[in-house]
Amino acid sequence: MTTSRAGASRAAMDELISLAKRRGFVFPSSGIYGGINGFWDFGPLGVEVKNNLKKLWWDHMVRFRSDVVGVDTSIIAHPQTWVSSGHVKSFSDPLVDCKVCKGRFRADHIDSLPCPNKPSLTVQACAKEGKGEGELTDIRQFNLMFQTHVGAVQDVSSVAYLRPETCQSIFTQFKNIQGVSRQKIPFGIAQIGKSFRNEVTPRNFIFRSREFEQMEMEFFIKPEDSESQKWYEYWIDQRYQWFLSLGVQKNKLRLRPHAPDELAHYAKGCTDIEYEFPFGVSELEGIAQRSNYDLTQHIQGSGKDLSYFDEATKEKFVPAVIETSLGVDRTFLTVFCDAYAEDEVDGEKRAILRFHPQVAPIQVAILPLSKKLKEGAIKIEEDLRRYFRSDYDEAGSIGKRYRRQDEVGTPYCVTYDFESLENQSVTVRERDTTQQERVSLDQLKNYLSDKMQA
Ligand code: GAP
Repeated sequence: MTTSRAGASRAAMDELISLAKRRGFVFPSSGIYGGINGFWDFGPLGVEVKNNLKKLWWDHMVRFRSDVVGVDTSIIAHPQTWVSSGHVKSFSDPLVDCKVCKGRFRADHIDSLPCPNKPSLTVQACAKEGKGEGELTDIRQFNLMFQTHVGAVQDVSSVAYLRPETCQSIFTQFKNIQGVSRQKIPFGIAQIGKSFRNEVTPRNFIFRSREFEQMEMEFFIKPEDSESQKWYEYWIDQRYQWFLSLGVQKNKLRLRPHAPDELAHYAKGCTDIEYEFPFGVSELEGIAQRSNYDLTQHIQGSGKDLSYFDEATKEKFVPAVIETSLGVDRTFLTVFCDAYAEDEVDGEKRAILRFHPQVAPIQVAILPLSKKLKEGAIKIEEDLRRYFRSDYDEAGSIGKRYRRQDEVGTPYCVTYDFESLENQSVTVRERDTTQQERVSLDQLKNYLSDKMQA
């Protein structure tokens, strides 16, 4: 059996998008109407993977810790939130239009985006070298927040925004959450939820979309602790280790500290965790040392006291914060790209998703060797589904069924055959090695549990 990971190429990306659609992981949103750029729907297998990732993040960041609590806040907040946070004024991208093809592009992407009229040229090359074929307008700023109106009257007074990040309501609710949870600094508040950005050029499948989910955590510390870098480095390491625990290949992950000129004026440091996607190395998560800027902004904007009183030292201060901010969809894309491989089994090409068992949408598939064995196989599946995400499949040859399960990343297939009727045992086939082992039915649940923990 020979194996090769998908190479860093467009072809690999096209293959992945096609697999995602074919097997029901991700579809373009409202495809019957031609789709809507920057929006995606997750199908039956995709939603399982997404839920698994969210649960694994929540367990790691909230459930298995005593110093982080969770929240779930509204998508639409008081519009002043976004004035105080600085989003109304400056959450924008530089935009240019082409007067000829009427395309609209991010000015800082025109050297890599293909021209819609002449895809062999970049937008910039078309405008510069296309002998008058493209002509770009001056750059102007375009605010990325989606606007809506709250209530029956649609005027300036009813304007509201779909949140472009989940963290701001963690800051506005800081005092309430700290009070009810009786957490003492240092402690964190975490949230998973939808965010919306009217991206000028959504691209690379679900990497940059207009509606996506974020998993963010704000860890509040004493302002003087932000000088020592201790917590900042701790969270960079925690987040990096989390990707390794999902089985993501270490050689595809990078840590990229931001250069001083990339940092916001209030930030003391920011490190991106990057992944080598088929379209290039790109940001997956940001870990930022944000001083006490956000809380201070909301204190000024609301006139409310969001400071913290330290009972032990009798000090009152506005805490500094370390933020970890990650997209669910980008994590999905990472595990999807990372798991994809093609190999050869018995001279036949196979596509395989080497998902970690905790990430895989189906953990075990039960396959009767013949339809005559249906009854016993169904019974096993009904038992196992209480413990594992399971599937039952009786359609087609056993080889075809193995390939189908390999392609969606099922780590174990249980085959129920005529011998099973006689001695209450089954064959368990392992996805990556294709090795098979005979396991007695009364040991099957423990056998699979042990394998999946390993
Ligand atoms: N609160 C900080 C913040 O939102 P960000 O770098 O703008 O920082 C954090 O976003 C993460 O959210 C990114 O690293 C990425 O994983 C995800 N993300 C941001 N914009 C996205 C988009 N348009 N589509 C998909 N994911 C996105």
